[in-house]
Amino acid sequence: MTTRNDAISAFEAHVSSGKVAFFRRFGMDFVMGERSGPFLHDLGGGKKLFNLHVNGGVFNLGHRNPILVDVLKASLDRLDIGNHHLISAERAALAQELAGLTPGDLDYAVFGSGGGEAVDLAIKAARAYTGRSGILSARGGYHGHTGLAMAAGDAKYRRPFGPQPPGFLQVPFNDPTALEAALDETVAAVILETVPATLGMVLAQDGYFSEVRRLCDRAGALLIMDEVQTGLGRTGRFWGFSHFDLLPDLVVVGKGLSGGLYPISATLLRQPLESVFHEDPFIHISTFGGAELGCPVARKVLAICSQPDFLSHVQTLARLFREGFEALQKRYSGFYRGTRQLGLMMGLELQDDLCGPILSKCAFDQELLMVYANNAPAVCQCLPPLNMASDQVPWVFERLDRAMAAAADFRDALG
Ligand SMILES: Cc1ncc(COP(=O)(O)O)c(C=O)c1O
Repeated sequence: MTTRNDAISAFEAHVSSGKVAFFRRFGMDFVMGERSGPFLHDLGGGKKLFNLHVNGGVFNLGHRNPILVDVLKASLDRLDIGNHHLISAERAALAQELAGLTPGDLDYAVFGSGGGEAVDLAIKAARAYTGRSGILSARGGYHGHTGLAMAAGDAKYRRPFGPQPPGFLQVPFNDPTALEAALDETVAAVILETVPATLGMVLAQDGYFSEVRRLCDRAGALLIMDEVQTGLGRTGRFWGFSHFDLLPDLVVVGKGLSGGLYPISATLLRQPLESVFHEDPFIHISTFGGAELGCPVARKVLAICSQPDFLSHVQTLARLFREGFEALQKRYSGFYRGTRQLGLMMGLELQDDLCGPILSKCAFDQELLMVYANNAPAVCQCLPPLNMASDQVPWVFERLDRAMAAAADFRDALG
């Protein structure tokens, strides 16, 4: 059996020396070993962590969810990757179920393996359909690290990697005036996260999304909603965008669709947009996109996450977290300034940019895995598994209280 130290050395020598140096420096050189439900354990035992990050939604249903593991095992008894050129009963069934859970005529699904790939396809489809090339996105938003998704993101993630493809422009989130000024007849689509996570869980102001929809319609541009983190029940509704009475033209879903077990993503298209593939249905392909082994897992994820009881459990958890945060904020009001929350899509607004990383480290020391927002480090994200038990919430808050005390003291000591 590989020991913890062997794993770290091999990772350092063959995967990423930079990551090992980073985690060592902060005393966070944890190696993921056994995992189940909300917990992950350091390889070989010892430290455990309660997952309050869930990889942005991948582990919405916990680690190695036994129902999903059984579905994947059953898939392995009869399926393989499948053939991405042929007609597939598994992909058809999954696409049909996605269409049934999505409003309006969002009837078609193009499958990929990851969120970035699905964003790339959304942008390609929008460009092909409109015959335009411009893409507007939110400054500080995040859509992945693949080609077009990366181009829609912040410059810091692209700078070392050569020229930027033309046609991309970022505007501030929550600023319809800036969007209106940029939305001319060259714009194919506006792409937005429903709650920009990497920007610090910023909540849309009242009327923002309906104004975005109106401006897109007026300019003849399409609206792509990136639901990679907010979809599948995270916000207490099945789709995050449904809080805003919005019908997007394209929806991107990933992460949680995998059940944490088999990578899969999808770009959902309104019915007329599928015409972009009529002339040549093979113009876009993805060898592993919608691999048949993963389709039954994804269908089970949809079945679980769309249950009214499941969504009301998410809402109950969201209330318990809100109450817990209110109490914490009273105790640490200098350090902890406010909470951003839509269901279980949550961010803690802290004193300044040093505080997100400090709280992440202090939470780690208290057995909580929490990650600060990369494009707004004054905000620490909090994304618990959607199926955690309500009676685990007090344990989480006991730990969070200690983490917050240590983090506030540490910040004070820095002056
Ligand atoms: C909102 C959003 N969109 C897209 C992506 C890209 O997904 P992936 O890493 O699977 O390519 C991410 C990943 O974190 C994300 O948070």
